[in-house]
Amino acid sequence: MKICICNNVSDSEIRAAIENGAQTMRDLREELCVGTECGKCACAAKRILRSHTFEDL
Ligand code: FES
Repeated sequence: MKICICNNVSDSEIRAAIENGAQTMRDLREELCVGTECGKCACAAKRILRSHTFEDL
């Protein structure tokens, strides 16, 4: 499913980035450009980030 329409980024790409070491929204921005245009995807991207972070605890 597309999370960031502006930059054509899917949830699976975000998960892959997290599995490869991305830990913050800044990491996702730098790696995938998530949230760098309109910003509407930021909440959804944060939710994915948080769900992965808490899975690791
Ligand atoms: Fe991600 Fe616009 S949908 S920046």
